[in-house]
This record gives sequence, C-alpha cells and structure tokens, in this order.
Amino acid sequence: MERTHRCGQIGTEHIGEKVAICGWVANRRDLGGLIFLDVRDRWGIIQAVFKPDSPAYKSADQVRKEYVVRVSGQVSARENPNPNLPTGEVEIEGSGLEVLNSATLPPFYITDDVKVDENLRLRHRYLDLRRPVMQRNLVLRSQVAAVFRDFLAREDFVEVETPILTRSTPEGARDYLVPSRINPGKFYALPQSPQLFKQLLMVSGLERYYQIARCFRDEDLRADRQPEFTQVDIEASFLSRDEIMSMMETLTAQVYRDISGQDMATPFPRLQWQQAMEKYGTDKPDLRFGMELVDISPIVAGSDFKVFAGAISAGGSVRGIKVAAGFSRKELDNLAEVVAPYGAGGLAWMAIEDGGVRSPISRFFTENQLDEIVRAFSATPGDVLLFVADKDCYGVVLPALGALRLHLARQLDLAGQGFVPCWVVNFPLLDYDQEEQRFIAAHHPFTAPVAEDVDKLATDPESVQAQAYDLVVNGVEIAGGSIRNHSSAVQLQVLKAVGFSEEEDRERFGFLLTALDSGAPPHGGIAFGFDRLVAQLAGEESIRQVIAFPKSTSAADLMVQAPAEVDQAQLEELHLQRLKKD
Ligand code: AMO
Ligand code: AMP
Repeated sequence: MERTHRCGQIGTEHIGEKVAICGWVANRRDLGGLIFLDVRDRWGIIQAVFKPDSPAYKSADQVRKEYVVRVSGQVSARENPNPNLPTGEVEIEGSGLEVLNSATLPPFYITDDVKVDENLRLRHRYLDLRRPVMQRNLVLRSQVAAVFRDFLAREDFVEVETPILTRSTPEGARDYLVPSRINPGKFYALPQSPQLFKQLLMVSGLERYYQIARCFRDEDLRADRQPEFTQVDIEASFLSRDEIMSMMETLTAQVYRDISGQDMATPFPRLQWQQAMEKYGTDKPDLRFGMELVDISPIVAGSDFKVFAGAISAGGSVRGIKVAAGFSRKELDNLAEVVAPYGAGGLAWMAIEDGGVRSPISRFFTENQLDEIVRAFSATPGDVLLFVADKDCYGVVLPALGALRLHLARQLDLAGQGFVPCWVVNFPLLDYDQEEQRFIAAHHPFTAPVAEDVDKLATDPESVQAQAYDLVVNGVEIAGGSIRNHSSAVQLQVLKAVGFSEEEDRERFGFLLTALDSGAPPHGGIAFGFDRLVAQLAGEESIRQVIAFPKSTSAADLMVQAPAEVDQAQLEELHLQRLKKD
C-alpha cells in the first residue's frame, strides 16, 4: 500500500507532483458533476476532486463518509482556496481511488464541534477519538510524558514499575479489591498510588525513582476525577524539601514552556496553607486574579447587625470580597445561591457610591464603621462589597467566599490567558473526621510532621503542620507531595495519632516499619496528576477529554460495558457468593 504523503502535509510546494494519500472520507460533495472528497488522516485533511473523465470517478461516486480510502493523483492549485484549512490552497486531482474498507454511518459527526451526549461518544470511543481535537489531545499527552521522561532521565531518575496487585495503600479513598483464587477469602487491592513502593525503593538505595503510574481510587467522580488515573510519581533520597521543590518547579516550568511556549518564572510563590485559606478561601488558589478576602470581624463585632455580631460572638467571623462591578437585585440573589451550598446563611452587600454606602444593612452600622469597612477594602465608588458571616470560619465563611471569588472571576472574565503557579505549603498533618470521630491524615499517613511539631503529635495533634507541598496552577491542584517519615518511631507516632493501635499498625504496615528500621535514608517526593496537567495544557475542562478510554460519571466503561456480571462458576472459583440479586 503505497502512501507518498500525509494528508495534512501537502502544500503549494507539491503542486504538479503525483501523490498518494490514505485516510478516512471526512466529507463527500457532488457539485455540478465534480465529486469532492475531503480525506482525513492524523495529520490533517485534504480535498481530492474527481472529474467525470477520471478513471476513479465511479468509485468516488460510491464512497461514503468514513470509508477508508487510498487516493492518488496530481496536486494542483485550488480554484477556490479555503483559508480555514492548512491545505486549503491545493487539492488532489484524483486519478485513482481504492476503497480499503467501507464504513457504516457513524452515530455522530466526526468533527471538532460535535454536540452530542458524552455517553454516546464514550460508547463509540474509537470514533470519538477519530475527531481531530481528540487526536490532538492524545498527541499532546504523549508529548507531555516525553518532556517528563526526558527531564527525569537527565536528572538520573530511574523508571521502575511497581505492582498493580497489592495491598491497600491509604490515600483517603476506597480501594478496588481483587479476589484471590489461590488464597480463598483473600483480596488484593489495586494501588491508590505507588506511595509505599516508592518509599521502599528509597530504602533499597535507588535514590531517584519515577514512574508514569496508574492509580485506582473508588471515589465519587467529577470532571477532574477518574477511578483510574495517571500520576507522574517521583521520589528522591537525600534531598531537602526545598531542593525537591526547586527541582520540581524547574521541571514544571519546562513542561509548560515546551508544550505551551509560555515561560513560568521560578521560584514559584509559596503560600502557607493558612494564608491560602484566609486570602483565597481555598487550599488551591487561582492567582490569575486578585480579589482577596478581607476580614472585617474586628470592625463589625460590636455592630447592631445581629447576623454579623452573632456570628462573631459565636466564635466565627465576617469576611468579604470587593468587585468592581454593579449588580441588579436579581444578580445579587443569584450570587447568594452560589454561597448557599457552602452553608452560608446569606450574602450581604454594600455598594460604594459617590455619596456613601448604599446597602439594605447600612442602617445597622455607624458612619465610622462604614468608613472603616470601606477603608479595609480600599473600596472606591463603583465597587460592590459582598459579605458572608458564620460561626464556622474555616468550614463555611472561607469556602463560600472562595467559591464566590471563582464564580465572579469567571463571570467577569478576570482570569485572562496564561498559567500562574504557586506552592501551598505547611498543611495541617491531620484533619478531624466528624463521621469517624478520629483524626485522619490530611495528605497520607507517611508524610512527616515539621520537626518542631513532632512532640505535639500526642498532646495537640490539630496544630501539627506537615512537611507537605501542593503545586497549584490556575487553581488546579497539579501535584502534591511531602517529606516522609524515615524514622519508624515518628512513623508510629503519626499512625497512632490517626487512631490505629500499634498492633494494627504492625499488621498493616509492618513491612514498612521493618524497612524503615533497616537503614532508610531521609526521603521525599511528589506526584503530578498527569491527566489534570494535560487537560490544563490542552485547554480542556474535563480530564475525560485527555484520557483515551475514560470511565463515565457512573464509573463505567460504556464501550466494553465494564463492570459486567460474571457467571456463577467464576464466582465460585474465586470463593465468592453474591449476597442478594439487586
Ligand atoms: P495525591 O493523592 O495528592 O498524592 O495525588 C497526586 C495528584 O494526583 C491527582 N489526582 C487525581 N487525578 C485524577 N483523578 C483522581 N481521582 C485523582 N486523585 C488525585 C491530583 C493530585 O495532586 N502518593 C501521593 C503523592 C506523594 O506524596 O508523593 C499522592 O498520591 O492532581
Ligand atoms: P436578614 O436580616 O436575614 O433579612 O438579612 C439581611 C441581609 O443579610 C440579607 O441581604 C441577607 O442575605 C444577609 N445575610 C443573612 N445571613 C447572612 C450571613 N450568614 N452572612 C452574610 N449575609 C447574610
């Protein structure tokens, strides 16, 4: 099968040449006795024209969309150039046409701007992936992986594969379990990440490891979450936290530069976790725009507005953001709906005007208090201040305003182009889980506390900070990592703080504790959420757009129809019995 050129790569420099291309019929038009075929391959689309005197005219008349064809002929200048097509100045005067395969009518158009239900696309993913935008995304994904591999290989990192059939590796999600046929009643777990193996490789003296690793987490799905997803997983020994972060930001800047052409200045700004929460209402701040949260609690604590004063006297706070925009009453009501799901009881507002403050609640405040509020925001006429008050600052006020900030930035198009990175550091090591009535690891339980806080593990666990760092770009958590516990004593203390008994710890993590005691070097690492990173570089909202065969929002593969029923014999072989038929 001779193919001389790729469809997308034929141009005016080929005029007069005999060429042969292979691809799919993207479109077929019959105009005044001429048959036009648009032929598509991975590199683009080119038009072929068949005149009635062409020996291939009859075959051209018979092909349909998505037939696989080989077209030969001479390249000529197009009478009516198409400026929207890279090959739009030329066409192939078809003299030969071979149908390599026919095709049934596809269930949706194979074009970039297809508007069909995503589930239909997922059911016929092989056709969906024929669309140029999806092909670009997969090519981009492969290019991003190549930049990582190239950088890490140059820095002496070794790519090591770790097991998929393993035991539970806690990252805070549910496990996918695989029953063992050979060991009745026992189960493997699919790894939520290669965390423990990469640490053990440090104990082995590998010093620098990486892997483009598949991770499995049985959690509720969203646009940025899949039950199986990919990490660029990295671990290194004898590097300080700052050295790891510095190397990783060089790597990140290189990835964004090589792929998007945009420079990222290093070092990246660092925000303390608490600072990120207080300024932006989130631990993954989008720094493409300002609109920082302002605390007005001290100003309004003694005011006559019961909602504000009450929240503060109950131990909470009142905070707000400033926007340079006017809102109708209806728009303000809509904004209140943005904060409601976060538990906010309402959204108070003040419009700053030439004559003073206009607000349904201004009568509850003294002139002095109003002045101080205006000053706290450096507000000027034309600005609107929006406030949330609640007794739970970290649980309600900050997340509600954080969400409002993002909503307004999107609505007012404040973000603009470009990628703005930052590190968020010094997370709390532990979170209190109300449901389970115990502390859980905020990152994972192998993260080291900051050295000064180790003694507080037993006495004041909530105040212990972690040697953890998250890399955030445009408000998306792109990577997360930490320095690990390389001393078994500290590791045991952390495990104890998250509520396991030493016996349970030895049962679950005995191999790790023993390994730490056998000469574990100080080590730490990070994992990039590869799908999220690629989605961002591709300008896609959902990571499903950059995964070849993703799961649907109900965690199903709609094409192969997994998960699927299995027959009784297979269940028995695995020593399993169904509780009830649903
Ligand atoms: P973490 O759990 O923060 O850390 O995961 C690292 C990065 O992986 C991405 N990510 C996901 N992407 C898609 N779908 C998901 N369900 C999903 N969950 C996480 C995020 C996240 O930043 N072992 C540690 C890393 C370490 O400490 O070195 C870990 O897995 O972008
Ligand atoms: P009310 O006195 O409940 O009618 O509220 C007066 C104004 O305060 C309305 O604009 C409410 O949206 C707003 N408001 C009520 N509760 C809160 C709250 N928890 N935080 C901020 N504003 C609130």
